[in-house]
Amino acid sequence: MPSEPTDAEPNWVHYEPEEATLVAKTTFNEIDTVFEFELEDRDELGHVPGQFVQVFVPGVGEAPFSVSSSPTKDGPFELCIRKVGSVTTAIHEMEVGDTLGIRGPFGETCDIETFKGNDMLFVAGGIGLAPLRSMINFILYHRDWFRDVTVVYGCKDPTEILFPEEIERWQERDDIRFDITVDEVPEGVEWDDHVGVITTLLPGLKIDAPNTYTIVCGPPVMFQYVQEELDAKEIPHDHIYLSLERRMHCGVGLCGHCQINDLYVCQDGPVFNYEVIKDRPEALS
Ligand SMILES: Cc1cc2nc3c(=O)[nH]c(=O)nc-3n(C[C@H](O)[C@H](O)[C@H](O)COP(=O)(O)OP(=O)(O)OC[C@H]3O[C@@H](n4cnc5c(N)ncnc54)[C@H](O)[C@@H]3O)c2cc1C
Ligand code: FES
Repeated sequence: MPSEPTDAEPNWVHYEPEEATLVAKTTFNEIDTVFEFELEDRDELGHVPGQFVQVFVPGVGEAPFSVSSSPTKDGPFELCIRKVGSVTTAIHEMEVGDTLGIRGPFGETCDIETFKGNDMLFVAGGIGLAPLRSMINFILYHRDWFRDVTVVYGCKDPTEILFPEEIERWQERDDIRFDITVDEVPEGVEWDDHVGVITTLLPGLKIDAPNTYTIVCGPPVMFQYVQEELDAKEIPHDHIYLSLERRMHCGVGLCGHCQINDLYVCQDGPVFNYEVIKDRPEALS
């Protein structure tokens, strides 16, 4: 069972949604938009990279979303939301000034202290860049704590690229390597970068395996193939973290909806060390 609340975990339970106001939205394509929210009663959300919030749309329902902005960013926090169903469509239809309910931040993530002095490798597939962006920007803010920082990002086609302007800025920096690929290029779409699935980017990377920490986020189908490449690079399993998604209800370890064997994704995750979950195939499907 999840641990009891302690004084050290002041954000342990938020049963009641807090009012949040939409203050800006930036649309990337027909299905992906980043939303900036301001909380009514607090200046800061108080999250750490990898955590998520439960978003409650009155009359429609509630759904979990990773916080996409870094805690080092002042002011409103950001959620990058893909339109797939009822809650996400209702959020996409919101206008600046509209309000909804937020519970959280929730979830266990990785201990950034462990990564200090090491190389960082991020592997993001599709909407998986949204959660990883929080950690990437946190690490870039504290750039001198880390050695090499590499991001590989793959999406279906160039129209689905998230945060294109920010990616351009990352690519212009000389203290981060950012490689991008698309599975395919539709007719009439311009693209002069790599084409192929995300795993085709990994063999070309020079990795100092014992001193590299890797964080992977993307569709479950990606995990197995990425893991094969990480094994080929001999990255230790306890240096690999995966961000998992499961259907959630309570978000606080009470309802069991997100349970994988003895683990609760909402409380023990959503970011898990690969060493902990590699023998639980249900976690990776
Ligand atoms: C910890 C966590 C973090 C997440 N972060 C993000 C994020 O940053 N951005 C983002 O766009 N989405 C994120 N998601 C997924 C998001 O929660 C779902 O897309 C959302 O719940 C869909 O709600 P809906 O009412 O719009 O869709 P529904 O009407 O409930 O469903 C529409 C379709 O999506 C499928 N679906 C719904 N939820 C999930 C899910 N969790 N996993 C797989 N398929 C699902 C349904 O089976 C159905 O086919 C996250 C999920 C979790 C658990
Ligand atoms: S969502 Fe209820 S136990 Fe995890």
